[in-house]
Amino acid sequence: RKVLVINGPNLSILGNRQTQIYGFETLQTIIQNLKIIAEKSDLILKDYQSNIEGNIVSFLNDEFLELLSKENVKKLTNLNSIEHNNIAGIIINPAAYTHTSVAIHDALEVFSKENIPIFEVHLSNIYAREEFRRNSFVSPIATGVISGLGSFGYTAALHRIIELA
Ligand code: DQA
Repeated sequence: RKVLVINGPNLSILGNRQTQIYGFETLQTIIQNLKIIAEKSDLILKDYQSNIEGNIVSFLNDEFLELLSKENVKKLTNLNSIEHNNIAGIIINPAAYTHTSVAIHDALEVFSKENIPIFEVHLSNIYAREEFRRNSFVSPIATGVISGLGSFGYTAALHRIIELA
């Protein structure tokens, strides 16, 4: 089974970006560490980063269609082995799109309807910053929201997905 880790705009420059807020760790380092944890639990970590809203939507749509086709095969053949291709959970830091994107909300909602756990992660505490960061379009459909724990937020979310898997 796999875990999707999705990161939105400007997280590509993590480690160099407002380090007093986001820290010195790069996204590559964060993903590498998550992969090690996932592998130990026999989960495949698939990561995706984009600065473009529509690309994140397309990535999620493709994953959803793949999931549906796997589910259909499973129903038709009754083969449990197909379950190994299922999505155990989604970790997403939508970054600035958190506060603006109905499209990402909609693209994620279909997974929550399939009872796939979704964790919204923010490195910083979005409630302790500018007013415009306080609203999230993703939180209402998330299983859990982690904000302000730095990169440990991703680790915590992954541990929770492993626990639920
Ligand atoms: C962020 C918080 C967002 O408000 C901001 O736009 C980001 C990163 C975080 O991880 O703290 O780009 O999602």
